[in-house]
Amino acid sequence: MTAPLTIRTGRVGSRIAGVGSYVPHRVVSNEEMCTMIDSSDEWIQQRTGIVERRWASDDEPLTYMVAQASRMAIEHAKVSTDDIDAVIVATVTHLKATPALAPILAAELGLKDPAAYDISAACAGFCYALAQADSLIRTGNATTVLIVGAERLSDLTDKTDRSTAFLFADGAGAAVVVGSDTPGVGPVVWGSDGTQANVITQTEDFRDAVPTATMPTVYMDGKPVFRWATTFIADAAKDILAQTGLDPEQLDVFIPHQANNRITDSMLRHLKLPEHIVVARTIKSFGNTSAASVPMAMVELLKSGEATSGQTALIIGFGAGLVYAGQVVVLP
Ligand SMILES: CC(C)(COP(=O)(O)OP(=O)(O)OC[C@H]1O[C@@H](n2cnc3c(N)ncnc32)[C@H](O)[C@@H]1OP(=O)(O)O)[C@@H](O)C(=O)NCCC(=O)NCCS
Repeated sequence: MTAPLTIRTGRVGSRIAGVGSYVPHRVVSNEEMCTMIDSSDEWIQQRTGIVERRWASDDEPLTYMVAQASRMAIEHAKVSTDDIDAVIVATVTHLKATPALAPILAAELGLKDPAAYDISAACAGFCYALAQADSLIRTGNATTVLIVGAERLSDLTDKTDRSTAFLFADGAGAAVVVGSDTPGVGPVVWGSDGTQANVITQTEDFRDAVPTATMPTVYMDGKPVFRWATTFIADAAKDILAQTGLDPEQLDVFIPHQANNRITDSMLRHLKLPEHIVVARTIKSFGNTSAASVPMAMVELLKSGEATSGQTALIIGFGAGLVYAGQVVVLP
């Protein structure tokens, strides 16, 4: 007879203990954008809510941005780096298939032998990473997890493509997730629809691009994405509340992926969120930073005092794949 395996058991729940972000220095205004594409400040603001975005410079590589955001999150969480036993980086712009960015980040932070891996879930990446961190902690496979969403989308954007150039931007956001007897991370609602993989995609595979030595940029068919986000994703957001056992009135903050203010407005109508709820609108100054958008927005809301520790926030990410994920969290 096969000997029974010993398994671990973990904590009842997890919570976000601290968050951090890195905002690249270079501000790119809509006016500057319009020197690259045939557009106008008015059109970009009306259609997306974006006024300016940040593009990282050569001295702000992804490795630097993730480390800076992580240091801030670790300090905020007041945990020892010795306690971090897993690191998950969500990104689609680490331009090496291997090694992953997570072990490089762990070494940069001086962490001791943590599990470390990257995940590719585009703009849903942070919420995917949070779901994994929560599961690792509740199964006892980790105790303290550093999760990061970070992008240098400017590397993969065709600056002359008027359907994407003004949207995508750079930045990093991080969170430290720890065990908690009172759950501070609700059940994830997540999924994917690979039949729509072609609506946000790179123009070609890296292998095909090598002979021409040009970087394959991100192509996007915005309309089906917009439709999907304002219907299916809005329903998923409702489902998150239902599965967490909360009414919209019990929510304090809504942090949707910062893709477009019109998508956020449509979700608000669909969810029938009460007036008092604070809504993240960092797209105005940061553009769409994909996996980094939710944690960057969380940091900004906490920094400005619009949101405070202990409040309940609905977070949801969605993007290329198409993939999505979201949950209710208690703010650190
Ligand atoms: C990209 C997006 C802002 C485009 O807005 P839209 O309203 O769908 O724009 P359309 O492509 O229908 O174009 C409308 C008009 O604006 C024009 N236009 C397109 N891009 C333009 C630009 N950058 N500047 C000025 N005009 C532009 C089009 O030519 C079209 O003109 P026409 O009506 O004379 O033919 C919108 O589709 C969107 O936000 N989609 C979701 C994308 C998203 O969130 N992706 C990330 C998910 S992670």
